[in-house]
Amino acid sequence: MNPPQLLDGKSIAATVLDECRAEAAALLEKGIRPGLAVVLVGNDPASQVYVGSKTRTCSDLGFHSLKIELPTETTQEQLLKVVQDLNADPSIHGILVQSPPPKHIDEEAIIRAIDPRKDVDGFHPENVAKLVLEDPTGFVPCTPAGCMKLLEVSGIPTAGAEAVVIGRSMIVGKPMALLLVSKISNATVTIAHSLSNDLPAICRRADILVAAVGRPEMVKADWIKPGAVVIDVGINRVSDPSKKSGYRLTGDVAFEEVAPLCSAITPVPGGVGPMTIAMLMKNTLQAARQFHP
Ligand code: GUN
Repeated sequence: MNPPQLLDGKSIAATVLDECRAEAAALLEKGIRPGLAVVLVGNDPASQVYVGSKTRTCSDLGFHSLKIELPTETTQEQLLKVVQDLNADPSIHGILVQSPPPKHIDEEAIIRAIDPRKDVDGFHPENVAKLVLEDPTGFVPCTPAGCMKLLEVSGIPTAGAEAVVIGRSMIVGKPMALLLVSKISNATVTIAHSLSNDLPAICRRADILVAAVGRPEMVKADWIKPGAVVIDVGINRVSDPSKKSGYRLTGDVAFEEVAPLCSAITPVPGGVGPMTIAMLMKNTLQAARQFHP
């Protein structure tokens, strides 16, 4: 078989970011500066890296960027107050509270407190409903939006294809399945999860397989239909004493054994990860535009 097409998220994201930079400049000319606030509660090292990339990218595009880092002991009431202040701040068009928060925080209540017009994560029930309704004024969660963009830009057809999404989270699995089955994409979709019977057999049906489970290298070669497209959403830290950091990043897919069977596959890192940030920037621009029609 031919070697697989590597879906280069880094370079596709760079193109999306160039478009965002141009659109931000056009908004600035009209006196509108897109503004994003990113809130991190606690000191989870991976979350710190993601939040750092998000705020850096914002600044790089000429957005107003606010990073709010709060201690692990922050109470529900304190966090709610931060969100309410951001809702009322006219310089902020997008609000993102990094997930997962510490265990004592009721994340669902925090998400509901965000003004849906500023919910650039697309997690608020109003935006979830708009995704189901295929209403383009809603915000589409950034990671699945990034996966769809990767497929689209790489010329991978979805219409009529058999797609399997492993994982049913509100951040990736469920919105990903909705996007694939939408009237724009027209795939036939199965959502599988850790309790699905015979997961390998379900995955072997997939022309497009999306792995979003958070288990390092769970998807093996014998789960793959030859010629399938594999989108690996996992970013897992596994211990590696040979690295200075003591760990390396690996996806949910056993890349070395799976890649030779695929027609296309995303690497980790450098696949879906950079696309998530690019789509967050796009969503922030959408929020700024919708606030200033
Ligand atoms: N944690 C992992 N992915 C995401 C995301 O897209 N948004 C937020 N807020 N938290 C996350």
